[in-house]
Amino acid sequence: MKTFYIETFGCQMNAHDSEKVIGTLVSQGYSQVPTVEEAELVFYNTCSIRDKAEQKVFHRLQQFKRDGKGKTFAVLGCVAQQEGEKIFEKAPHVSMVCGSASYNQLPQMLVQLEAGNRRVTGLSLDTEDTFETPLTRRDNPHRAYITIIEGCDKSCAYCVVPFTRGPERSRTSASVIAESRQLAEMGYTEIQLLGQNVNSYRDPSAAGWDFATLLDNVGRVPGIRRVRFTTSHPRDFVKQIVDAIDENSTLCNHVHLPVQSGSTRVLAAMRRLYTRDEYMQRITWMKSARRPIAITTDVIVGFPGETEADFEATLGLLDEVEYDSIFSFKYSRRPNTSALALGDHIEEEEKGRRLAILQEKQRQIQIRRNAAYLGVIEECLVEGFNQATGQWIGRTSQNKTLNFLRPVENGDLTGRYVEARVTRAGPNSLAGEYVN
Ligand code: 5AD
Ligand code: SF4
Repeated sequence: MKTFYIETFGCQMNAHDSEKVIGTLVSQGYSQVPTVEEAELVFYNTCSIRDKAEQKVFHRLQQFKRDGKGKTFAVLGCVAQQEGEKIFEKAPHVSMVCGSASYNQLPQMLVQLEAGNRRVTGLSLDTEDTFETPLTRRDNPHRAYITIIEGCDKSCAYCVVPFTRGPERSRTSASVIAESRQLAEMGYTEIQLLGQNVNSYRDPSAAGWDFATLLDNVGRVPGIRRVRFTTSHPRDFVKQIVDAIDENSTLCNHVHLPVQSGSTRVLAAMRRLYTRDEYMQRITWMKSARRPIAITTDVIVGFPGETEADFEATLGLLDEVEYDSIFSFKYSRRPNTSALALGDHIEEEEKGRRLAILQEKQRQIQIRRNAAYLGVIEECLVEGFNQATGQWIGRTSQNKTLNFLRPVENGDLTGRYVEARVTRAGPNSLAGEYVN
C-alpha cells in the first residue's frame, strides 16, 4: 500500500477540502501516515491569502530539496492555482500542482503520477462543478463541515481568492440537505456551512432556495443541534438571515461579518460594494434581534492610501460595533489583484503600528464584553479535556470558549451538550463551573 502525508494551511475551506482529498486518496488505496518521513507521497494544501502564508509552502519544499529523495511531492490549493507550472521551476522535486477547482480529477492525476509522469497539473478554472464526494474523512467527531458554494464572484481589490478558487458554483439544496441528514445519522450534531461568500448561495435546482432558506432547513434536520456558517459578505447579507436565526434556535447566534475597514473611502478603494452606513445597517439588524448574536469580523490595516483619518474611522467602528472578536491583518500585496496598481504603499512599520493599536483597542473591548457574562449560564458543546489545566473545553452557541471544572471520574463529557456557569472572564475566553 502506498503511503501519503498531507499538511494543510489556511482557511476552513482548505481544511475541509483536505478531508475530501484524504477520502479520495484512501478510496484509491493509499494510506495516511502522520509524518513526512514515513510517506511516499507528500501533499501540501496551500494558502496564498497573504504573502506570509504563501511563503510557508516554499519553506517546507525547500527543506526537502535535497533529502526528499524517493518521495513524490504535490502542491494543492491556492498557491498551486496561483503559481501553476512556475512551481516546477522553483521546486523541481515537485511532481504535481493542482488547484481546488480540479480536485474531481484527482483519481486520474494519481494514475498519471503512478505512471511516472513528473509534471502532472490540474489548473483549469473553467468548471461548473463542485467537489462532492461521499468519501470525506472527517477530522472532528462532532462538528462536520459542508461546502455549499465554491469560488467567489466579487472582486475585492486586495484579494486573490477569485483567481485561486474561480467563479461561484453552488451545490443543489437537495444534495446539501441529504449530506446534512446523513451526517446527523452518523452522530454529528454540529454542521458548519462553508463558502467564500455563503450569502450569495443560489440553489441551481428548480427549488431555487436562497441562503437564508437553506440555513433554516439545515437547522431543521433531526439530530442537528447547532448550525454555523462562514464566511459572509456584507453586500449579500440580508435581514432574512437574522430572522432565521431569531426563529430557529438550532442556528448558532454568531455571525462573522468581515468589514475590512471603517472608512467608506477605503471601502470604495477596496471595491467592497458597501459603505460604512450600509455595513452598520446589518449590525443594527443583528443588535435588534431577540437572541443575543455574537458578531466577529476581519480588518485589514494599511491598505494603499489609508490615511490616519481612515484608520481612526476603523477604530471608531470597533467602538461602535463592539465585536466579540476580530481577525486583523496588515495589507499584503497579492499577484493578479487590482490593488497592485494603487500607489501610496504604506511602510511595514506603519502597518505594524496601526495593527498593534487596533488589537489593543479590541482587547479592551473584549475584556469589557466578556465580563458581562459573569454569572450567566451557557450551554456548551464539550470539545475535549485539557490535561494541563484539568478543565473541560466547552464552546457556546456564540462561539466563545468556556472552560469549566468537573472531576474526570464523573464521566467523559466530550461531544455532549452541558450547561456551565461563567465565573471568570478574560479577553479571549470564559471559565466557569459545571451546572448539574
Ligand atoms: N492582505 C491582508 N489581508 C487580506 N485578507 C484577504 N486578502 C488580504 C490581503 N491581500 C484578509 C481579509 C479577509 C481575510 C480572510 O483575510 O480580511 O477577510
Ligand atoms: Fe476575497 Fe471578497 Fe471574495 Fe471574500 S468576498 S474571498 S474578500 S474577493
